[in-house]
Amino acid sequence: MKIGVFDSGLGGHFTLDKCKPLMPEHEFIGFFDQTNAPYGDKSQAEILQLTESGVNELFAEDCDLVLIACNTACTQALRRLQEKYPDRKILGCLIPAAEMAVDSEAISIGLIGTSRTIESKKYERETFKINPRAKIHGLATPKLVPFIEAGNSDDLECEIYLKEKIQMLINEHQIKTLILGCTHYSVLKARVTKLFPTLEVIDSAEAQALKLVGYLMRHPELK
Ligand code: DGL
Repeated sequence: MKIGVFDSGLGGHFTLDKCKPLMPEHEFIGFFDQTNAPYGDKSQAEILQLTESGVNELFAEDCDLVLIACNTACTQALRRLQEKYPDRKILGCLIPAAEMAVDSEAISIGLIGTSRTIESKKYERETFKINPRAKIHGLATPKLVPFIEAGNSDDLECEIYLKEKIQMLINEHQIKTLILGCTHYSVLKARVTKLFPTLEVIDSAEAQALKLVGYLMRHPELK
């Protein structure tokens, strides 16, 4: 089957790269809206409109299923698009990442993401449905996407910012697991693991790819 991956920018490549080797029997295509990125501080109406148009581009390319890889777009647009197009398969990345975080058995879970993702409290809601005892501690890290989009994620300035924010979550909430709640942050996973070796790091792009494998197995009728 043909599967589309939508993201606001560079981050979609990470999801695509994770999906392809796991599901070589399927064809994957991406639509990455680099013209309008970043989405992280846009209004909900704007994010909804941009996401709808990107997702429709992918369905116009004959995709059978579309993954919204962008956490921000998932928090602002996924539910509305699923309601508006009930006959189309549109899947997000929040539930996969929340499930993996809860699977880690941590009760105090850190979350970093764009301002929109953190303000939405959607991760809190999804995690609560899986395990009401698990608590999400979200922190907006709006400087990271511009660093990554500009190809400056290896800069010392980026590392200092990243380290300071994560340390804050550890000091204030004793987090044991951290969700990288933005596809762009996939590129930072190795660095976070190196800086904080005892943290369990959940990458939303990886979680979405892994959970898609299970989803397709449970839905053989889609093939
Ligand atoms: N990739 C998007 C996400 O996962 C964020 C990037 C942006 O601000 O556009 O939230």
